[in-house]
Amino acid sequence: MSAPTKETLLQALAGVEDPEIHRPITELGMVEDVSVDDAGRATVTILLTVAACPLKDTLSQNTHKALAAVDGVTSVDVTLGVMNDEQRTALKQHLRGGQAEREIPFARPDSLTRVYAIASGKGGVGKSSVTANLAAALAESGLRVGVVDADIYGFSIPRMMGVDYPPTQVDDMIMPPEAKGVKVISVGMFVPGNQPVVWRGPMLHRALQQFLADVYWGDLDVLLLDLPPGTGDVAISVAQLIPGAEIIVVTTPQQAAAEVAERAGSIATQTHQRIVGVIENMSWLELPDGTRQELFGSGGGQQVAESLGRIVGTEIPLLGQIPIDISLREGSDSGAPVVQSNPDGPAGVALRGIAKGLATRARGLAGRKLGITPQNR
Ligand SMILES: Nc1ncnc2c1ncn2[C@@H]1O[C@H](COP(=O)(O)OP(=O)(O)OP(=O)(O)O)[C@@H](O)[C@H]1O
Ligand SMILES: [Mg+2]
Repeated sequence: MSAPTKETLLQALAGVEDPEIHRPITELGMVEDVSVDDAGRATVTILLTVAACPLKDTLSQNTHKALAAVDGVTSVDVTLGVMNDEQRTALKQHLRGGQAEREIPFARPDSLTRVYAIASGKGGVGKSSVTANLAAALAESGLRVGVVDADIYGFSIPRMMGVDYPPTQVDDMIMPPEAKGVKVISVGMFVPGNQPVVWRGPMLHRALQQFLADVYWGDLDVLLLDLPPGTGDVAISVAQLIPGAEIIVVTTPQQAAAEVAERAGSIATQTHQRIVGVIENMSWLELPDGTRQELFGSGGGQQVAESLGRIVGTEIPLLGQIPIDISLREGSDSGAPVVQSNPDGPAGVALRGIAKGLATRARGLAGRKLGITPQNR
């Protein structure tokens, strides 16, 4: 059998994606050189974006596999190199679609990404759990999903989602790690150890802007933002940075929680953001005999939905009620969202139902200006 041509090898390499960027390595300028001798021995040099690329073994294995599968190739030798500054700049410009300037892609008027900010009045009502699970469920339904852990003080999303490697930085562009098919970025990834972070308003705004503009998100259908509790600076920053972001309010059934949740939600009216609906969490505990024990009272979610509806003048739906479920807490602690680890348990079913409702309204242009003028003929 004759040895394959270089073109054949390049074709095979076009089937290899960068594990972080999810585009063919040939398109990203990562194949420095590929050759094959008469005996079918293939040699290839792949340029990593940075030397410490956490997924370089995966990349190396996939490259090896792709070339080994080509007819006539008898052996494969993969060498990993690192891009120089010029090559990195070219890659960055390529990823930014030729634009040198950073901008927040989700703030563009033609952005098709639905941005949901998950807000609550009180802490500990389950915002992060809801965010992590909705993200995992939406990704499972085939959508491209990203999560920003904007809770600068109490970051918890990476643990809940089981993120097990850090982001890669290519100069000022950040490649987010992925877990459960979701791109995840959190301030926790940039803080050594588990030190508490003290951020003031302007720093928070800057950090959030960076997460949104400097992270290479690719083309997303849905971006979820896990906000810190309360009505603070971050909610206002989100409104300024992504005016099209919509709000989902999480509350427990408790009256006191409901009242503060209303306040958090009504911020949206001042910032002219849409409220998608309310999620009630920890609604009840299902007892072995099938009865429901309402540990935290009842009616909070409905009450928040109604009163926010009165404030904004349109109906605000209660998107769902999530029961107390030990497997949710266990899943959060072990990095296995309950929608996947126990999808048919009480919380799994409720969360998947809410995600389904959101998925069907994902990536719509409804109500948006298309920038097309009808032609008069
Ligand atoms: N439905 C539920 N059933 C059982 N445990 C739950 C449920 N919802 C949340 N929890 C648990 O309650 C705790 C708080 O949840 P979580 O961290 O999601 O809340 P939060 O609103 O993000 O809190 P914070 O305000 O601190 O960011 C976690 O340990 C979580 O596992
Ligand atoms: Mg949280």
